[in-house]
Amino acid sequence: MRASEIRRLIQLKPIELDAASRRLSACHDIYELRRSARRVIPRPVFDYVDGAADEELSMAANVRAFRRWQFQPRALTQVAAVDTATRLLDRDLPLPLVLAPTGYTRMMHPAGEGAVARAAQRHGLPYTLSTMATTSIEDVAAAARPDLWFQLYIQKDEGLTKELVNRAAAAGYRVLVVTVDTFVTGHRTRDEKNGLVIPPALTLQTLGNIAVKPAYWLRMLRSEAIDFANFTQMGATTIEGTGTMFNPTVGWDDIAALRSRWPGKLVIKGPVSAADAARAAELGVDGLQLSNHGGRQLDRTVPSVDLIARVRDAVGPDIAVVVDSGVRHGADIAVALALGADACAIGRAYLYGLMAGGEPGVDKVIDILTDQFVRTLHLMGISSVAELRERGRDLLVAP
Ligand code: FNR
Repeated sequence: MRASEIRRLIQLKPIELDAASRRLSACHDIYELRRSARRVIPRPVFDYVDGAADEELSMAANVRAFRRWQFQPRALTQVAAVDTATRLLDRDLPLPLVLAPTGYTRMMHPAGEGAVARAAQRHGLPYTLSTMATTSIEDVAAAARPDLWFQLYIQKDEGLTKELVNRAAAAGYRVLVVTVDTFVTGHRTRDEKNGLVIPPALTLQTLGNIAVKPAYWLRMLRSEAIDFANFTQMGATTIEGTGTMFNPTVGWDDIAALRSRWPGKLVIKGPVSAADAARAAELGVDGLQLSNHGGRQLDRTVPSVDLIARVRDAVGPDIAVVVDSGVRHGADIAVALALGADACAIGRAYLYGLMAGGEPGVDKVIDILTDQFVRTLHLMGISSVAELRERGRDLLVAP
């Protein structure tokens, strides 16, 4: 027997030398990526991503709210393939999925915002850059060209808000997402316990951690210092500290002012009620991102999934409705769309991937969710996103 024949028989898997890709290939869902991230990332950083406000009731309820729904599949519909293409805010997307804004992304992995934006681009999905990013508006636009969205925290300093908005427009960001749930920052219990400062400081405690998570610290020490890249002067701070920059007295007038200044699509992000959604639509807002910030702001906020039907009824079919907070599986996207949403957004899910394996980890997350979404539709006997939305609630059963 020749060597080539033996090789074919044994079908050796290529030996994966790289620890990160070995880690990634051992993960089959978002929770496995989360566990993998926890093993390699220092506790204060992992907890910053994984944790939420106060008793973390909202965060737990978010995940439960998606999973409460059960599917009623259609029988014998002869679906040969599932078409996941859709349209969101006048753009064609291959999948109804958006990457949500997350601050301090280079703290999770030095590849940071650029890596997430590149992964989004590879998959044809929108990426939202946070005001509190660790890569600047301009540098992200230079690193990748997905459908770029910019998330705005309206600042106390009005000039600074204007400057951020102008820079985003000049750099080619198409959608402005105004977050309306963070006038003060939520009380993040784990961060307070861990004494987290951003960027992570070399304290006695963290020095001890170097021995336990050497790869993380090596990566960090070898890469550029982390800073709040969209602001020129800002030192190390706590979560509470960053919150003091935000304007606590933002009102509907500010939304109207932004509407007249921003040339692109305008989206409001928060746990928006049906009445507030209708008011936003009257002001010319193009979309709503129903979100309780992943449970990181007001604990005990209604899960965004439970807002979808009422908001959709209030605003009609022409306003885009994106839903985040609690998406951990492709089936969650199917639930949200059947309830009337246009797309879902993910925060922690892609950060778990980034922490576990850098940029390929983000690719892995999108691939897992895509695969799960396609299989869910296929098993439901649904051939396309269009059909899923059309049949809507008929496909769901609430126990
Ligand atoms: C966030 N989120 C957030 N939102 C925002 O508008 N601006 C921001 O800077 C941040 N920063 C941020 C950091 C981290 C570490 C997380 C986990 C989240 C909220 C984010 O956009 C999104 O609403 C949630 O992450 C959605 O919930 P899931 O997917 O994490 O459950």
